[in-house]
Amino acid sequence: MYKLIVANWKNNPATEEEAVNLAGKTDHENLVICPPLHFLKSVAGVVKKSPLGAQDLPESSAVELKNLGVKYVILGHSDRRSIGETNETIARKLSLALSLDFIPILCVGETWEEKQSGRKEEVLREQIKVVPSGSNIYVAYEPVWAISTSGSGQRDNPVESLETIKFLKSLVQAHFLYGGSVASKNIGDYLKYEEIEGALVGGASLMPEEILSMI
Ligand code: 13P
Repeated sequence: MYKLIVANWKNNPATEEEAVNLAGKTDHENLVICPPLHFLKSVAGVVKKSPLGAQDLPESSAVELKNLGVKYVILGHSDRRSIGETNETIARKLSLALSLDFIPILCVGETWEEKQSGRKEEVLREQIKVVPSGSNIYVAYEPVWAISTSGSGQRDNPVESLETIKFLKSLVQAHFLYGGSVASKNIGDYLKYEEIEGALVGGASLMPEEILSMI
């Protein structure tokens, strides 16, 4: 079964030259490359095989992203939720994305406090409500605490990720990805389940050999 691997570079690399270099080294039809918005144009100029993704869909530049050939848009990443992006804003961006024929990748995930206080399902239920029925959309389950840069450095137990994804699947129809400290040595632990249709990779996507070995 085809698995979607998405490289979310987040705030990296630091310079345009490095971004272009990394894109050239990791250009592959099975890898979606999502550079920071300010490097999208130059990365679009070098990739020949990788589908392009954007890390957000700013309402004012949606058409510009479309014209650059962007296919996927990541919405609701915890980096954006942590600076105040609400489920309402995400819902608006999601309908804009669908109206412009982007394929949205909606990120959902609980914080460590929410998990520890038994609120995980309640939080996920609220975050996933924005998905309109019958849409072609990916949902990335990314527990905030499992993200290498902002979390505990601990990945989610794959059996628990599977259970959580099954729970989300019972609420909406979508394709599901796992994200959070994914690396070449652990990706198979998630992708072996048919319910997990791909991975959203942050830190490891900046290392060409590492990310290419995952696809
Ligand atoms: P890491 O793979 O670095 O944990 O990042 C996950 C992420 O935030 C991808 O969107």
